[in-house]
Amino acid sequence: MAAKILAFTASPRQNGNSAALLESFLAGAVEAGAEAETIATEKADIISCRGCLSCNLLKHCIIRKDGWQELSRKILDADVLVFATPIYFHHTTASCKRILDRFRSFIHVQITETGLIHTPHQPWNKKFVLLAALGSSSSEDAEPLIDLFGFIQETLGDHNSFESIIGTRLAVGGQILFTEEQLVNLYAKLGLPVRLAAEDAVRNAELLEQAGILGRHCTENLG
Ligand SMILES: Cc1cc2nc3c(=O)[nH]c(=O)nc-3n(C[C@H](O)[C@H](O)[C@H](O)COP(=O)(O)O)c2cc1C
Repeated sequence: MAAKILAFTASPRQNGNSAALLESFLAGAVEAGAEAETIATEKADIISCRGCLSCNLLKHCIIRKDGWQELSRKILDADVLVFATPIYFHHTTASCKRILDRFRSFIHVQITETGLIHTPHQPWNKKFVLLAALGSSSSEDAEPLIDLFGFIQETLGDHNSFESIIGTRLAVGGQILFTEEQLVNLYAKLGLPVRLAAEDAVRNAELLEQAGILGRHCTENLG
C-alpha cells in the first residue's frame, strides 16, 4: 500500500521558502510512490482549542462545528506528517499553532504531584517532519519549535520519529530558489556581506535536495 503523507503548509506566502522545501520533499516522496495531500493552514477550517478538556473523557474533540473531525481522521490515517513553516517569533505561524493545539484531543493528560502524564488515545506510528525557514543566520530561533515537535511525537507514542530541515538566512519569499547573482543583489540591499552569496546559493540548493531525499526516505522506510 502506498505511504500516505499529510503535509501542512503554514506560510502566508504563496511561494515562500518553506513551501519550496515542501515541494522538493513531496516530489521525492511521490517519486518513491507516496500519496500526498497538502493542507494550507491559513485556509483550514479549524478554530482554536477551547480548553474545555472534554477530550480527556470523550477521547475526541467535542467541537463539531469546524473541519477538525475530517482533519483528525486524515492525521490518524497518515504515515507521515510534514509541517512546512516559516519561523515567526521563534515559533510556527498562528494558523499552524491552532492546528497543533487541537492535537490535545489525541491525548489523555493526567496531573500528578510532579508533572503531567500523557497517554495517547490511539497507538501512533508516524514520521513527523519539520521543514522550516527563518531569516536569521543561525537556527537558534527554530529551537522552540524543534522542541515542540520532539515533545509531540514523543508524547504520542514510542514508535514515532522526527526529522527536521531548517533553512537559515532566508528573508524574502522564494529566496531559497535564488541564483547566486540574485543573492548578490539581495544581500547588497540588505547590507549582508555579498561574499556569502556564492556559498548560500550552493547551500540552498543542497537544502532543497536534502528535502527531496528525506521525502523519498520517509516513503521507502515505513514501519
Ligand atoms: C512576523 C514575523 C516574525 C518572524 N520571526 C522571525 C524569527 O523569530 N527569527 C527569524 O530568524 N526570522 C523570523 N522571521 C523571518 C521569516 O522566518 C523568514 O522570512 C522566512 O524565510 C519566512 O519563510 P516563508 O518564506 O516560508 O514564509 C519572521 C518574519 C515575520 C513576518
